[in-house]
Amino acid sequence: MLVDDAPNPQLFSEDLSSFAPTLVTPSIPGPRSLQLKSDLHETGQQAAAVIIFNDHQQCQGNFTVDADGNRILDLFNHIATIPVGYNHERMKKLVQSEHFQSLVLNRPALGVVPNLEFAQESRTLLSIAPKGLTKVQTMLCGSSANENAFKVAHYWKAKMMREKQGLGGDEFTQEELESCMLNESPGSPNRSILSFEMGFHGRTAGTLSATRSKAIHKVDVPAFDWPVTPFPHIQHPMDDPQNIVSNTKEEDRALASLNDLLSQRSESISALIVEPILSEGGDLHASPRFFKGVRDITRKHGVMMIVDEVQTGLGATGKLWAHEHWNLSEADSPDLMTFAKKCQLGGYFFRPEFAVEGNMRIFNTWMGEPTKIALLEEILHIIEDEKLLDRVQHVGNILQKGLQSLAEDFPNELSQPRGQGTFCAIDAQQLDLVHSKLLQRGILVGKCGSNAIRLRPSLIFEEGHAKFFLREFRSIMEDIAAV
Ligand SMILES: Cc1ncc(COP(=O)(O)O)c(C=O)c1O
Repeated sequence: MLVDDAPNPQLFSEDLSSFAPTLVTPSIPGPRSLQLKSDLHETGQQAAAVIIFNDHQQCQGNFTVDADGNRILDLFNHIATIPVGYNHERMKKLVQSEHFQSLVLNRPALGVVPNLEFAQESRTLLSIAPKGLTKVQTMLCGSSANENAFKVAHYWKAKMMREKQGLGGDEFTQEELESCMLNESPGSPNRSILSFEMGFHGRTAGTLSATRSKAIHKVDVPAFDWPVTPFPHIQHPMDDPQNIVSNTKEEDRALASLNDLLSQRSESISALIVEPILSEGGDLHASPRFFKGVRDITRKHGVMMIVDEVQTGLGATGKLWAHEHWNLSEADSPDLMTFAKKCQLGGYFFRPEFAVEGNMRIFNTWMGEPTKIALLEEILHIIEDEKLLDRVQHVGNILQKGLQSLAEDFPNELSQPRGQGTFCAIDAQQLDLVHSKLLQRGILVGKCGSNAIRLRPSLIFEEGHAKFFLREFRSIMEDIAAV
């Protein structure tokens, strides 16, 4: 994934001051953010994870401005949700239109009384559908997209099983209708969603049963008795000849486990869900060959394949959808793909054979948000007009090469540099210290898994920002190594 001509970050001697943060408090968070955090906590809102408060009007491009006036270089972007930077002029213009304002003022219940443009807007969404997934359903957030994707899978599986028995796919028996009201079989069948170790798919009751990244997110919550299968543990750089043989073996081990499990239980498993990069779990990667194997095995066993692109989607890997890097043919595309975050609203694309018929079987009050679809449309124009996917690939190469060189130079502190486009990560022995030292230099990054720094810059992140970040990262690692 790396190109050889990306500059060595040790050589960034040019003036990068225009990419630098501006700090006004001796430490971050400053006093106002700390006070607001305490105020917020008192109201009962969850505030433990709050880092800083944003002064939204002051934020611009790649810089967030906090409550104390610090202008911070943002490589986290509200957990990977800001696609074209803060307060983009074209987005500001869009929201000034009377039409947009009427939608803000009168949020429609899209499942019953949608706005006039909804069908056309849904067609526009289909213009970015992955190969083969020619239908779309909007939702609210990533969790609601996944929750409803699970329902699609269960409906499909139940229909298939009925058809196998020579019954009409959607003709429910009286027993099914009565038993589901008691949460009992056969109306509430004993079927499951299979997920990978360290996968993350949300925190609502259903998705939490498929989430396997951190115990603290799950403990004390009753869960479905759903199966889990190992995800390969890959060594990076992935294309290093020294790693290829062991990585292939490791992926084969994971594929064999998956095949064994589905050989025994495929009738009770409606779908498998997987992220192209297991993000909250620690930015865990696997090769296109592995994912192709997963596709083949799920299909062989009649299990739907759901790809969760909530975090990886909309461009940060250098392609609109990260699973496009697998180079699958249209026939081999996944069955359904969920999205949210950078797309501004949740939803999923799916193959037509998974369409759900019947009244309100997939439904909630809002079913999406038309203002967010309008924002997404403009975001797509900006991505195209500003050639942002090309930029992500170029800047991503610089970031990846820079992380690799840092791991080589600080082997006791940093390891496993990895990334696709600007969607990058590196393991840090002293994760909290590195995170906090970067923040004190005015750089906000994310954490994931047990020890990874994750980078989630917006798509307008420039070469200069990347070089500035890498130079500062090197400098704090020199400080840490000197202690
Ligand atoms: C891969 C993935 N799936 C699902 C979710 C849940 O999305 P949301 O927080 O919007 O409900 C997340 C959130 O981080 C995610 O990263």
